[in-house]
Amino acid sequence: MVAQVIDGKAFAAKVRAQVADQVAKLKEENGITPGLAVVLVGEDPASQVYVRSKGKMTVEVGMNSYEHKLDVDTSEEDLLALIDKLNNDPAVHGILVQLPLPKHLNEDLVINSIDPSKDVDGFHISNVGLLGTGQKSMVPCTPLGCLMMLRDHHGSLSGMDAVVIGRSNIVGKPMAQLLLGDSCTVTIAHSRTKDLPDVVRRADIVVAAVGRPEMVPGDWIKEGATVIDVGINRIERDGKNKLVGDVDYASAAERAGAITPVPGGVGPMTIACLLANTLTACCRANSLPEPEGLTA
Ligand code: GUN
Repeated sequence: MVAQVIDGKAFAAKVRAQVADQVAKLKEENGITPGLAVVLVGEDPASQVYVRSKGKMTVEVGMNSYEHKLDVDTSEEDLLALIDKLNNDPAVHGILVQLPLPKHLNEDLVINSIDPSKDVDGFHISNVGLLGTGQKSMVPCTPLGCLMMLRDHHGSLSGMDAVVIGRSNIVGKPMAQLLLGDSCTVTIAHSRTKDLPDVVRRADIVVAAVGRPEMVPGDWIKEGATVIDVGINRIERDGKNKLVGDVDYASAAERAGAITPVPGGVGPMTIACLLANTLTACCRANSLPEPEGLTA
């Protein structure tokens, strides 16, 4: 079987266009412009690239973007004071604190100081609990993007066997909750899982989110399975820098029914879902109906 390629770049562009339409409607009919505040502490080069890209796309869909760049040695007190200000600013509907934070800052404390209704990352402990109990929450962007692509490809996911490889709080655990919410039978596999190849071979859906380049070979993939590759790993091959996923794309594409490439798969969906979450937060804050197809 030769896999259908799930084009995340095109899908993300469609999601952003949907968000932009809804934002235009909100402005025209309600006089409201959604606003996203992004906080960056320090000068980590990768984080700077992400933050710039988020700001650019926020403006492109017609939202207000508020960027707060703080010194690497900013105190916890000053960072918490800024978050408190953003929590109380009615023009700000979404708050994202870019991770990782410098070592002297307590990440859990900082994330849990964000108003859960503005927590567009879905990392606040209240949102984690709401998702885990099947209640309305803010959902982490990367797993939400994966879910949207799976629903688009399959329609219903009910009854499918899904394996999530990786148990991070940002991707693995929320992904498993979302798949369970869509009535999959879900296994979370990790570095201590016994017989990982056999576990993966049983799956109709494989979500790989471990951060290890090409660790899932094609012969682990069940014929016709759908493979969602969350990994973005920089490697050097033949003297060149290359981006590869957690799945060995070439061999997996020979067995899978559908597969996301790297780059151009899950990656672009993350920012699109951040914008979708900001729109959702804005609608909820104003007691307006939520945008259809953009939430879990
Ligand atoms: N750093 C890498 N990915 C993310 C993300 O999804 N959200 C935040 N806040 N920081 C990140």
